Amino acid sequence: MSNLDSLAVSQFKQDPRLQEGKKLILEAVHAHQKKLTQLRPPQQALMQTYQETLETFQHIRGGKLYFPYLGSGWGHGPLVELLDGSVKYDMISGIGPHFWGHSYPALLEVALDAALSDTIMQGHLQQNQDALHLSQLLVKASGLHHCFLSSSGVMANENALKIAFQKKFPAQRILAFEKCFMGRTLTLSQVTDKPAFREGLPLQIAVDYLPFYRAEAPEESTEYTIKILKKHLARYPKQHAVMCFELVQGEAGFNVGTTAFFKAIMQILKEHQIAIFIDEVQTFGRTPELFAYQYLQLEEFVDIVSIGKLSQVCATLFHTDFQPRPGLLSQTFTSSTVALQTSHWIIQHLLSDHFYGPTGKIMQLHHRFKEHLTRLEARWPERMQGPYGIGAMIAFTPFGGELQRVARFVQDLFQAGVIAFVAGHNPTRVRFLIPAGVMTLEEVDIVMAIVEHVLAQNIS
Ligand SMILES: Cc1ncc(COP(=O)(O)O)c(C=O)c1O
Repeated sequence: MSNLDSLAVSQFKQDPRLQEGKKLILEAVHAHQKKLTQLRPPQQALMQTYQETLETFQHIRGGKLYFPYLGSGWGHGPLVELLDGSVKYDMISGIGPHFWGHSYPALLEVALDAALSDTIMQGHLQQNQDALHLSQLLVKASGLHHCFLSSSGVMANENALKIAFQKKFPAQRILAFEKCFMGRTLTLSQVTDKPAFREGLPLQIAVDYLPFYRAEAPEESTEYTIKILKKHLARYPKQHAVMCFELVQGEAGFNVGTTAFFKAIMQILKEHQIAIFIDEVQTFGRTPELFAYQYLQLEEFVDIVSIGKLSQVCATLFHTDFQPRPGLLSQTFTSSTVALQTSHWIIQHLLSDHFYGPTGKIMQLHHRFKEHLTRLEARWPERMQGPYGIGAMIAFTPFGGELQRVARFVQDLFQAGVIAFVAGHNPTRVRFLIPAGVMTLEEVDIVMAIVEHVLAQNIS
């Protein structure tokens, strides 16, 4: 682009008062973070008000909160402060977005710059250059041709399905894996394979399900899935527009498929001209490559990809042959300016700071968790199985995966200072979406010592 120094915005950004102001703010951030270095129990004096505030919030939102959690808006790396004064290790990262933990200075610096832009939100009618820069980065990193930004994972998925249906008209059915999770709009609550999430909702879309890969029976499970796929294709010839893939099933308990399994399915889909859509809303950034389909070497098959969570801004990426006709996609909001600029920073750093590959930071953290979980499994073979998952997605199964006991264990962990979450059903697992951007190996040891302590209390 041409030299932009003559623009009013450039002159504003170069104003020394801005530089000085930012410098002072960041000095204050560092000074105050030094005080937040370890777990802290709730403060007695705040507990009553905290309880009342939680009750007010639950009443207003019309439903219970999963955890008694209200953040204070401050933290340090994986540590987060709650309004009751407690400080906890956040191992679920808001179910994904806080990959760089809490109050990370470099991200705050980008957010400060972004907050000085002319608008809070940007929309598809009037976008700033931030939207272009982020889209360019994603197109380059993905190898796909186009990028349409949006502000939630489920909207990125809706857009993906719309693109696929328009291209494959008049085919109207889709294929998906059993136990998949794709979001909760009216349509995607039907695809998401969890009965409670579609209870009372009208049918929107015809979905044919395939069983997912079973690591304990690789060949048998691949053959069985292919058999079911062929049955669906024979029952509804030329009626499937697209198959949705969650290459690592997130909500289902961090089930991981293999290259051979996915290739076997994808080859058949290609023969039948069925579009291949990869939902990377949860996996994006967390496997040993930026995209799970890159890690699993499936690039040649991919038509459409969605991303979200740690990217702050969500996106639908697609090849040129899937380019939608005008009118199909648009929204008032692309995202906030802060989200657009921090997203760019995050993806750039993921690509340049040794996160990926077999010896990258993600795998180093993964191996450290694995060592601890393997040790715990050896200590309590009857009560502990794992690890499951991949990269920065780590899960284990305590107490045979019995829902009530695992849910109680997660609440006990919360009280002990580690925020985790459940995933899957039969078995229900404990899952971590770790803040790999900031987490250190020493912090893994601290977190796992707490996990071990709470397990020991629950087992005895
Ligand atoms: C695989 C997958 N797809 C889609 C979604 C929906 O994303 P969002 O909650 O941002 O709408 C999620 C959220 O958990 C997800 O894990």
